[in-house]
Amino acid sequence: MNIKPAKYWNIKKTPQKVEWRSLGINDDRKVFSCCDFDNKIFGNISVNIKDYWDGFGRWVIELKNSLDKLMGYEIVLMEKDSHNFMGNMIEVLDDYRRKGYGFGEILRLFSVMLMNENKSKRFEIYSRGSAVYFHSKYKFVPYITRYSERDDTLNMIAKDKSAAFRDLAVRAKELIEMEKKNNIDFIRRMFNETNKLVQEYIELAAQEPKPEKTHPFNFGLPMVLTDKNLYKNKKFYNELYTKYGLDYSI
Ligand SMILES: CC(C)(COP(=O)(O)OP(=O)(O)OC[C@H]1O[C@@H](n2cnc3c(N)ncnc32)[C@H](O)[C@@H]1OP(=O)(O)O)[C@@H](O)C(=O)NCCC(=O)NCCS
Repeated sequence: MNIKPAKYWNIKKTPQKVEWRSLGINDDRKVFSCCDFDNKIFGNISVNIKDYWDGFGRWVIELKNSLDKLMGYEIVLMEKDSHNFMGNMIEVLDDYRRKGYGFGEILRLFSVMLMNENKSKRFEIYSRGSAVYFHSKYKFVPYITRYSERDDTLNMIAKDKSAAFRDLAVRAKELIEMEKKNNIDFIRRMFNETNKLVQEYIELAAQEPKPEKTHPFNFGLPMVLTDKNLYKNKKFYNELYTKYGLDYSI
């Protein structure tokens, strides 16, 4: 399943347990308390979750070193009653990103734990163009519902001149043409068709070593990880929890 070993981490022999606590009697949302990781370069890296400062009820998951320096964070929102879950921003600080350290991956593992533990049906994000292939690696799929995003994406695929992408480009052009015919039933289906096509495009591009360079998205894309898709990919996620010595499984 192409999971790389945790090259920069000393993994504890006994996997560490992730503890959970409910927020209160009138609030059944659960948050974790845990964990510490031993990084071969940066030493102890801890993960914690707390309220985000802006007062909108969001949480922030933070990765910090032993001097309390922030290395990366993810801001999320879990609605109190519905447990609808949204990721607002995931960021690893410049010096530590894209170096193979796995900080972004660890953040993603913790936000997905939150989703799973709180039985959220969907984990929705709005991906920057440059991060689409990162999120796709963790099984998020396109979830386009706006006309402008649909049209931008179809035009982008239609213009891709790489030989292996010819069929996808033809299908994108067909969808653009069909829309012009103004058939209302088809226009409704068109979002589904577009999302399927974009996912196929991402999967094909991801077979290349640097898809974000060879098949870049120059605009943002709404993406979603549904509970169904998470369970379908639980082996992948469980292997990632094992990779970092976490006693946790989906
Ligand atoms: C996106 C981001 C959070 C990833 O964090 P990171 O620490 O660099 O990622 P990791 O080292 O954990 O990488 C995990 C995997 O994702 C891949 N990856 C990371 N960023 C990627 C990107 N932008 N595009 C494609 N793949 C990416 C890595 O190559 C690695 O894959 P591998 O296991 O096959 O080697 C980080 O690059 C970042 O902060 N970017 C700027 C802010 C941003 O764009 N955030 C996203 C907002 S939607």
